[in-house]
Amino acid sequence: MRTNILALLRRAAGGYISGEEISKQLEVSRTAVWKHIQALKDDGYEIESHPRLGYCLRRSPDILTPEEVRPLLKTALLGREIVYIASIDSTNNETKKLAAAGCVEGTILLTEEQHGGRGRLSRGWFSPFGKGIWLSVVLRPRFLPQEAPKCTLMTAVAVVKAIRKVTGIPCGIKWPNDILYQGKKLVGILTEMNAEMDAINHVVIGIGINVNIASEELPPDLAALATSLQIETGQPVSRRELLTVVLYELEQAYALVNTQGFDPILEQWRQLSVTLGQKVDVIGLNNRFSGVAVDIDRDGALLVDTPAGQERVIAGDVSI
Ligand code: BTN
Repeated sequence: MRTNILALLRRAAGGYISGEEISKQLEVSRTAVWKHIQALKDDGYEIESHPRLGYCLRRSPDILTPEEVRPLLKTALLGREIVYIASIDSTNNETKKLAAAGCVEGTILLTEEQHGGRGRLSRGWFSPFGKGIWLSVVLRPRFLPQEAPKCTLMTAVAVVKAIRKVTGIPCGIKWPNDILYQGKKLVGILTEMNAEMDAINHVVIGIGINVNIASEELPPDLAALATSLQIETGQPVSRRELLTVVLYELEQAYALVNTQGFDPILEQWRQLSVTLGQKVDVIGLNNRFSGVAVDIDRDGALLVDTPAGQERVIAGDVSI
């Protein structure tokens, strides 16, 4: 009902629609319409009520509910199902449950805040209310389990393209999946997989984008390491617009991988990388070394030339 009332208010395109008209079209009482309008106002919708003319939607709040996001999407697969939970521990945790229960490929889960947001290597992820895009996406790729890192690489490419398109910030990718601008982190990606020996059941790609966090809102331990799009552009960035472009670019990248294989994305990753060509310090699973990052291979491993020969980094922490 709420979605239908919003649709009617939007259709009036800044003009008024009477309570009577809404109640007639949706076959509900005028009191029910009034109650829904009050609930929408409580959620931050600016709706003007006029005794004779009815209701007029002046402004929608900056929230990522399906009602707000769905009309903007330009995707066929990603966002077919949209789950919205305003406050959650971690979108990845909940999405893994949805995926295990058989949700359709392309399901996305959106929230305004995470109180247990997770990063790589068991780190946390700062996710304050309404300030970022905290999103998980379900894919069911026909890759081998060992090819799952491709999902992270293609997501990084898609998110960089989206941020560049929407904000113009020339950010880049630090291997394997951080998106940085001038050495500070804007985006983190956490891919989690559920697989058999020879096939992937599903992959949950968690994407955290620092959109409208002000510099004074960053916790002291992050201030030197992280930034946000608002900090870098000097103005708020529309989360809804960015989200729709991220999903569009990710869908394009996924389609490219499915039709042309991984090489085109790998080439785009190389072009967008801030790691290649740099001297790096690597903390691997059971060793540490320094060298020059020269390439990534088809499995997404980073190739590092060291005085002792070339190392292939599959997992670990790389600092530039
Ligand atoms: C990292 O860089 O360490 C990865 C951070 C990933 C954060 C995102 S926010 C949405 C999704 N839910 C989580 O708990 N984590 C990911």
